Amino acid sequence: MKNIVVLVSGGGTNLQALIDAEKRGGIKGGKITCVISSKAEAFALERAITAGIAAVVIPRKDYYSAKTYSEAILAELQKQNADLIVLAGFMTILDECVTKAYPYRIINVHPALIPSFCGEGYYGLRVHEAALEYGVKVSGATIHFVNEKADAGAIILQGTVDVANGDTPESLQRKIMENVEWKLLPKAVSLFCEDRITVKDGKAYVDLETNDDNKCS
Ligand code: GAR
Repeated sequence: MKNIVVLVSGGGTNLQALIDAEKRGGIKGGKITCVISSKAEAFALERAITAGIAAVVIPRKDYYSAKTYSEAILAELQKQNADLIVLAGFMTILDECVTKAYPYRIINVHPALIPSFCGEGYYGLRVHEAALEYGVKVSGATIHFVNEKADAGAIILQGTVDVANGDTPESLQRKIMENVEWKLLPKAVSLFCEDRITVKDGKAYVDLETNDDNKCS
């Protein structure tokens, strides 16, 4: 059983999707063993506590640099014996001391179709504001491995939604969360825990051939 450590900063709806998936047996070969929050006030912490999962707060504001903060995160991940780290609405970019310690073992959910609307400065509602500002007709979310560059690691899964004329950043965010993020993040986590993701030449390949009762599209 792989130990899954989930990093959060906010509302934690993606964490909830993972907790719910685990409860219904949708995460095979893995168990959420700890949630780490960069903010003491994050509602995600209450979700973890309600689900009986260990919750740890490592406040970003207590550290003067991304490097010192990442060193504290790394120490906690090692203490927790993390096999897989999931960034579920985690709003801090991790230094390479963490990404290099866990190559192809950190998964992030990004609320756009990478390589569009991603990288430093693109997070949360800002991503959807930028997509609407550009006038795209399709958007979505990307589940990808985390490497040294923001939102640039190998893509595992992507899903799309249509953008409607009247969409606001808030409505588009909600649509993408409901239709893509909350389905594909648990699916990618399960695929990882079942050893069904392989990486070759920096690209991720998912074994979707195996009889899959965790379908969500
Ligand atoms: C989600 O939409 C997630 O994709 C996004 O923040 C939201 C967090 O919601 N993450 C990023 O923008 C990271 N670059 P949640 O706390 O309810 O899961």
